[in-house]
Amino acid sequence: MDFYYTLIFTVFPYLCLTTFVVGHGYRYVTDRYGWNARSSEFLEKKALFPGTVLFHWGIVFTFLGHAGGLLIPQRVFDLFGIDSQAHLTIAYWSGLAVGLAAFFGVLLLFRRRLTHPRIQSVNRTNDTITIGALFVVISTGLFNVIFGHYNVLYSVAPWIRGIVTFTPDAMLMKGVPLSFKIHVIAAWALLAYSPFSRLIHIWSLPLTYFFRSHILFRRRVPSQ
Ligand code: HEM
Repeated sequence: MDFYYTLIFTVFPYLCLTTFVVGHGYRYVTDRYGWNARSSEFLEKKALFPGTVLFHWGIVFTFLGHAGGLLIPQRVFDLFGIDSQAHLTIAYWSGLAVGLAAFFGVLLLFRRRLTHPRIQSVNRTNDTITIGALFVVISTGLFNVIFGHYNVLYSVAPWIRGIVTFTPDAMLMKGVPLSFKIHVIAAWALLAYSPFSRLIHIWSLPLTYFFRSHILFRRRVPSQ
């Protein structure tokens, strides 16, 4: 039993992390011109807008919530007077809000991808897998928020910190409900798959856009 836990909750995450790091390097070197979000906005705008806005706001804040809530130990929150009960309450309500946004966003994007004729004609299996995997990760995460009622602060959170700090302890995942296990396994798999998908665009956030000088567009003055 312990062997399987080590395989699933120690070996598998490190395999995924290695694929994630090496895969991004490989993709960057071999497919520099394919490094983009493969936007389909010019083919269809109307259905994209609500889906992409809801999804992107939801997923970006979900990421930030996971990073803050799971990677920072509870004792740091205690120093600021946020005990584990308060921490869980904040995680529940904020997770619910951003999780619902990401869920309905990805649902709209999935529907657009599967039903809109112009999008269907450019859709690749890779795009369907990417949105499908996001759907699985987001919906199991949201399910856990709403129905899980499980304290992750002394099990899943230290386990994930152990992975990040190279002191893994798979046994912390014993006793964690199945739906949480499915969520984390699906998330690791998506992480490993991401370098080979359009998700690489996450690392090309156009920050310089906010600081560059304005581009002026002027009406062309007709020559006399
Ligand atoms: C870091 C900030 C991000 C920026 C600036 C950004 C930007 C974009 C842009 C410009 C597009 C193409 C137009 C569109 O479909 O809306 C796009 C599409 C997409 N993004 Fe992002 N993105 C970000 C983060 C993320 C994250 C964190 C994820 C998921 C983990 C994600 C997943 C997707 C997906 C799946 C699509 C394709 C939607 C579709 O056409 O069906 N993005 N993103």
